[in-house]
Order: sequence, then structure tokens, then C-alpha cells
Amino acid sequence: MNSPYKTIKSLGVMCSGGDSPGMNAAVRAVVRTAIGLNIDVYGIYKGYAGLLEGNVQKMQIASVSNIVQRGGTILDTSRCLEFFTPEIRQEAAHILCRKQIDGLIVIGGNGSFQGAMDLHREHGIPVIGIPGTIDNDISGTEYTIGFNTAVQTAMDAVDKIRDTASAHARTFLVEVMGHRSSWIALQVGVCTGAEHVVLANEVIDYEKIAGDIKKGIERGKTSSIIIVAEGEKAGLSYQIKEVLMKDFNINVHACVLGHIQRGGTPTALDRLIASKMGYAAVHALKDGLDAHVTAIKKGELTMVPLANCLQGKDDSLSFEVNLIYALGI
Ligand code: F6P
Repeated sequence: MNSPYKTIKSLGVMCSGGDSPGMNAAVRAVVRTAIGLNIDVYGIYKGYAGLLEGNVQKMQIASVSNIVQRGGTILDTSRCLEFFTPEIRQEAAHILCRKQIDGLIVIGGNGSFQGAMDLHREHGIPVIGIPGTIDNDISGTEYTIGFNTAVQTAMDAVDKIRDTASAHARTFLVEVMGHRSSWIALQVGVCTGAEHVVLANEVIDYEKIAGDIKKGIERGKTSSIIIVAEGEKAGLSYQIKEVLMKDFNINVHACVLGHIQRGGTPTALDRLIASKMGYAAVHALKDGLDAHVTAIKKGELTMVPLANCLQGKDDSLSFEVNLIYALGI
């Protein structure tokens, strides 16, 4: 919905849900762009939970000095399940009104965007979303801030595991993050020459995994790496390990990379896209563009309706899936 007559004099910016490397670059761009346009900017600390506590501070240019290269988020974050309740959102709308915050920029993933959409629909608050999650699983955008850094971190880890796997002629199951999506697993699989990638939520074909490992050994391979997308709940690689050992007599090691993938210094790509998105989000609010998301489409930055960004993105038809099959033979 456009609201061309409402001039934004102040805005709030928050990070919500799982942090991702590059969020700080986005916050910095929001703060500095807003101040440059004479818009007051308030940092909302700890996501929606912090908003409900009134944990809000006015930001200055210096508030975001020396942060572009840091992982995590200087605004802190949280997963706030109570925000799915209408009464709680009403309370949040009152707080924004009392603090005289005219518009909101939410940096986060699917759940955070749903909260922003509900706040907008129920209380008419102008909102703009900036996609920030390592999972790259938001529909409506090809890219989410933090994904590239997470892939880089996981790839570096798998390369290290490959060294020791080769030295001992071992097979490793390496589990990567992504929740219900397989984007990290697919890209890490391609970049590390994995023998097999287990996609999130696929019916696990143990015969095929065992066959791929055995085929590699017969061809003289000294190591095998199977990338496992964690799926709904972390720890899947241990379940696969059990079956491979018990039913197929294959000795495997499991390694869950875990939260190491969420931290660390953001890559140049993440800093750049985050900075562009922060800048574009402020301009969008100023121009009266409500309920939109800063998105990447065909490689270009654009604005898409928030309503188009509320479901997970399908990864099953991605180019990477075919690439994995083609290269993993
Ligand atoms: O959404 C990002 C993410 O890192 C997922 O990949 C992962 O499943 C989840 O968050 C872990 O969440 P938490 O840190 O709350 O356990």
C-alpha cells in the first residue's frame, strides 16, 4: 500500500530472528542515509521483544562507526513468539506511536517479515523489510544478507575436514545450517566437490548415499564428503551415520558445523548488498512505499511487495540441484 501523504520524520530500525553477517552494514547504511535526509533514526534493540520493552535509542552517525566489518548485530536480536498475538502487536504499535516513530525497517527472515506485515495491516504502520538470514530462504528475493558469508565459512570448514578425511581415508557427513532450506548445503556441496548432498526434508535414500561412497572408494578415492542440510531439527547427520554404519557397514564420521556459520566477518558481497539495501529501505520509506522489501531480482536491487516475501523459497528446482547430480557422479 502506498501512503504518499505521510511524511516520514523519524524511523526505527531493528534486527529480528537469527542474526546474520552483514546486518551491521545494513544498520549503518540505514542510520547514515536517514540522518543525511534529516530523518531521525531510532535503534530498536533485541528485535520485537526489545520493542515491547521500549528498548529504543536515538542513533547518531557515530553510533554506527567501525561496525561494517563486524558479524552479529550491534542492535542485538531475538526470536519473539509472542509477537504472533494481535494484542501484543497492538501494544507494539502504541509504543511506536508514543516514541513518535513514523516508520519501521525490519532486518530479518520469514517470521520477522510476518510480524512486520501484521503490524502494517492492523495498525497502518509503514514498514520496509530488509532480508537478513544465512538461510537465503525468502521468496521474492534471490539473496538474503549473510548467505554468502555462511557459505564461505562452511566451505572453509569442509576444506579442512577434507584434508584430514583424505589423510585417514575416511568418510564424513558434514551438517550445515539452513533450517527447511538447502541453499547452504547445495552451494557448499558444489564448492567442495562433495560426493553427495542430502537435501532438507527429502526422503533419505540410504542406498544411494552408500552406493556413492562405495563407488568413490572403488575408483580409488581416499575420502568422501556428504553434505547434509539440517532440515527441521539439527542432528540429522547422526541419524544418517547410524544407518550407514549399521545397515551398510560403512564407517563414517559426523560433524555438525552449527553456529560457526552464523558468525564472523561478513564477505565483501554481504557488506555491499547490505549497504545498498539499507540505503534503498530508507529511500523507500521516505517516498511513501509501504510494506515492501529490498530484494535482489536478476542480480539487481529492487523493491517487491512484502506480501510476496512471506513464504519459504523453493530450492528443489535450483540450478545447483542439477549441478550436484552432474558433478557428483
Ligand atoms: O535462520 C537461521 C538459522 O541459523 C537456521 O539456519 C537454523 O536452523 C536456526 O537459525 C537456528 O536457530 P537458533 O540459533 O535460534 O537455534
